[in-house]
Amino acid sequence: MPIIDKTIAFVKATLAGAEAGHDWFHIARVYNNAKKINESERGDELIVLLAALLHDIADPKFNNGDEEIGPRMASEFLNSIGVEDEIIDHVQQIIRNLSFKASLGTITFESKELNIVQDADRLDAMGAIGIARAFTYGGYKNRVLYDPEIAPKLHQTKEEYKNTTAPTINHFYEKLLLLKDLMKTDTGKKIASQRHDFMLTYLDQFYREWKGAI
Ligand code: ADP
Ligand code: NI
Repeated sequence: MPIIDKTIAFVKATLAGAEAGHDWFHIARVYNNAKKINESERGDELIVLLAALLHDIADPKFNNGDEEIGPRMASEFLNSIGVEDEIIDHVQQIIRNLSFKASLGTITFESKELNIVQDADRLDAMGAIGIARAFTYGGYKNRVLYDPEIAPKLHQTKEEYKNTTAPTINHFYEKLLLLKDLMKTDTGKKIASQRHDFMLTYLDQFYREWKGAI
């Protein structure tokens, strides 16, 4: 599929030097997850794969909060390689509505392809890789690993979620452990269940080591 090959080359070049949580390897994992989930869910494969490849092309977090920069870059690129407008519109809607942050706002768009790519992205925030990504992000934000005096709280709004300065362990309770029940596809749910259990085991060990137990 030349469209996919060209998109892969564009994403790799654009994300060269990106931080580890949102680099090309994150995109490659989400792409593989999405492809796998789509084998049983049977969404439109081109839309699923393009959206997986382009979903983090420009993260608002690293672009002064500009939420349209990602959809705009994706559309300009897809247009430049001659992809149909209808496909471009769908891919843009997926990028806009994919994130955990977006799901804390008003939901304005739904599609099977969005569910597939969203599950694929969420899986990468769980399990061993999800843990690694959370501490990478925490390090980037200069957060402490854990502080027993700072209790986790559930964020009700996008602003609260974005502006937290809480320790990284709190992020498990504020997002990572909630993902299992937010999965939309059956395949996503199955994979999420194993990754969820692994995070619980990890937390258990973390607290035991924190207290000095061997
Ligand atoms: P989304 O785009 O779904 O809102 P993010 O871009 O916020 O997701 O998250 C990307 C990665 O960074 C995920 O692995 C996520 O768990 C991690 N991350 C986001 N916020 C925090 C945080 N406050 N502490 C630790 N990790 C975080
Ligand atoms: Ni992502």
